[in-house]
Amino acid sequence: MAAKLIKGTEIREEILEEITADVAEIKEKHGVVPGLVTILVGESPASISYVTLKIKTAHRVGFNEIQDSQPDDLSEEALLGMIDKYNKDDSINGILVQLPLPKHIDEKKILNAIDPDKDVDGFHPVNVGRLMIGGDEVKFPPCTPAGIQEMIVRAGVETSGAEVVVVGRSNIVGKPIANMMFQKAAGANSTVTVVHTRTKDLAAHCLRADILIVAAGVPGLVKPEWIKPGACVIDVGVNRIGEKISEKTGKKIAILSGDVDFDAAKEIAGYITPVPGGVGPMTITMLMKNTLKSLKFKLGIA
Ligand code: GUN
Repeated sequence: MAAKLIKGTEIREEILEEITADVAEIKEKHGVVPGLVTILVGESPASISYVTLKIKTAHRVGFNEIQDSQPDDLSEEALLGMIDKYNKDDSINGILVQLPLPKHIDEKKILNAIDPDKDVDGFHPVNVGRLMIGGDEVKFPPCTPAGIQEMIVRAGVETSGAEVVVVGRSNIVGKPIANMMFQKAAGANSTVTVVHTRTKDLAAHCLRADILIVAAGVPGLVKPEWIKPGACVIDVGVNRIGEKISEKTGKKIAILSGDVDFDAAKEIAGYITPVPGGVGPMTITMLMKNTLKSLKFKLGIA
């Protein structure tokens, strides 16, 4: 194997240790810890497992974590009322509404109701605008793109002047990561191209990339011959391609595959993220970082 593996599982440990130390210091100096509320509406198994991991991680780093689980038939009005309550609650620094929401609730309306200064997901239009402006304006970069940038930087990959090609233009990954990488900032200063379903020659663009970030949601979309030798390949895809019995637990678990043909790509790339264990673990990690940041902003120590 030619490529160096960029493991999210290892980088997560480094960052969570940094956060834990910061939380302890703030607690000692200021007598407070970050407060994070997670609102879960309904009982989707995927959402429950995601939220359970968030709670576990928040406890590990010393946050005050509130889990607010609500039935599937919760009205939009009631949810807006809950958000208003948490917006006004001084002990809460971060509000996260787990997505997707049940069909009868307007997701956009809910996300827009969260106080932008507690929007640790970074999904509120005010935070999207702040990200676009860049520099000191940025409060809460969205968690998955922030995790991607952190992985690239911590792996020691040069971003300044690098050709970055982003495959996919979603609001959650493609658009924000493209924006972050061309900013005049450390870990950025790249030349960015965004390619998508209407792009004429995907392969030609990918082949130019020093850093190739793939968030298309199509298993095996990126072929090994699309990768420039030595490139850094970040695979954001988490596609369920089947099921298997876990050796550890004996239970059925999903077989996951990324958007990149990993086995072949690792022989060509200089750096590559695995799936699972690559970008995935970074999202919750960066959520913790944003929640800590929120308290730091409030205390004037950010
Ligand atoms: N559902 C899946 N991922 C996420 C996330 O990052 N934030 C929220 N709010 N919901 C999600």
